[in-house]
Amino acid sequence: MTKKPSNPQAANEQPGVGSSTIWGGRFDAGPSSMMEAINASIDFDKRLFLHDIAGSRAHADMLVAQGILSPVDGQDIAEGLTAIVGEIEAGTFVFNAALEDIHMNIENRLSEIIGEAAGRLHTARSRNDQVATDFRLWVRDAIDGIDAGLKAFQGILIDIAEAHAGTVMPGFTHLQAAQPVTLGHHMLAYVEMLGRDRGRFADCRKRLNECPLGAAALAGTSFPVDRQMTAKALGFARPAANSLDAVSDRDFAVEFLAAGSLLAVHLSRLAEEIVLWSAPQFGFVKISDQFSSGSSIMPQKRNPDAAELVRGKAGRVIGSLNTLLIVLKGLPLAYGKDMQEDKEPVFDATDTLELCVAAMAGMLNDAEFDTRRLKDDAGKGFTTATDLADWLVRVAGIPFRQAHHITGQLVKMAEDKDCGLEDLKLADMQSVEAAITDAVFAVLGVENSVASRTSEGGTAPANVRAACTAARKRFLT
Ligand code: ARG
Repeated sequence: MTKKPSNPQAANEQPGVGSSTIWGGRFDAGPSSMMEAINASIDFDKRLFLHDIAGSRAHADMLVAQGILSPVDGQDIAEGLTAIVGEIEAGTFVFNAALEDIHMNIENRLSEIIGEAAGRLHTARSRNDQVATDFRLWVRDAIDGIDAGLKAFQGILIDIAEAHAGTVMPGFTHLQAAQPVTLGHHMLAYVEMLGRDRGRFADCRKRLNECPLGAAALAGTSFPVDRQMTAKALGFARPAANSLDAVSDRDFAVEFLAAGSLLAVHLSRLAEEIVLWSAPQFGFVKISDQFSSGSSIMPQKRNPDAAELVRGKAGRVIGSLNTLLIVLKGLPLAYGKDMQEDKEPVFDATDTLELCVAAMAGMLNDAEFDTRRLKDDAGKGFTTATDLADWLVRVAGIPFRQAHHITGQLVKMAEDKDCGLEDLKLADMQSVEAAITDAVFAVLGVENSVASRTSEGGTAPANVRAACTAARKRFLT
């Protein structure tokens, strides 16, 4: 019985096309153009082609080894797949939305090149285990790419930290001057963050490294497949243990986006500091011409657009994580076509992160810090008040709470006199606390302040130099 078209899209249906599609055996009519538009993923999943072909090679080799496919067919398939890689890389391959996705585009082309044997490649396989395999391989490579970018960026930050181990600058809490720190120490804080990001990607990589191939559509296969062999050929640690889980699990993509979101947040925090620091009101850093832009109306402007965009793009990456979580949350086992929506957020986040890491690395590498300005600002806002209170505790044996109170009175006095703590006269200080001697002046300078912060993980230049050496060992070897 021929089904009558029953909707307005019927005009788009092409009778007879159904039987020519790969799955069209039981279909009388081809898809409407609307169906094709919503169903096709080829525009984006063509990015999987190398991984799809690697998976097909491993599968075909295994089928031959297991006596499921003849060696001659195996050879033809391997050669056909090599030809297809060549065509795609040369840009001569014609992608066809009517063939839905990368898997069917490649299989269709394979049948054009080698004929009937192409139809044997899909024995003991489904697009469900195929796409799950391709996507894991793709994400695994993406992780390796991001890790390399992060490592290079850490190297740049450590170089800056080493060059500025002794450069004093204001440290902030609440964005109010708090205590002097060193610029090197500040840079190394980001090296730690990026190190944890790399650790999260590495964890994700370890967990994702199981091979779905052989799970077939959802239940496994009746063919005597060797799942250990395909897993090994593709560099997976082992086959996925459960066929239903193998085709429906996208945890790895969620974990990847979660690690990526946190990385994006770290990059955004650094970008925000660059935006602030490059404003003339701060004047801490000058971004090179290569990473700045001008204004079309205000000739004096020098805008930190790249940093602002890194800050802005964090929104995209976090959005991608949200997208995938929401796609997955209501899905029953096993595969559902909703899961085709897993790829674009991952592709977009990967492109975005790679670009942002490279842009931040380039921007920081070229940045010029105004060490004079940093040092002048380091002392503004009574930033050595804590050093004074500590001195009262250490030298005069005053309890810290009381020392805090005394120092507060001295800060007020300096504020009234519109001068720094170090500019107060000894006699004025003694009018507040008699135990103060002129030895106190040694701790009031910003250089002395940072030099005294020698506790483990502290900001003293000597610590920062040692921390740079340690960071090189931990992250760059
Ligand atoms: N393009 C599909 C995807 O990305 C491939 C798997 C299709 N499987 C299916 N049963 N229709 O999810």
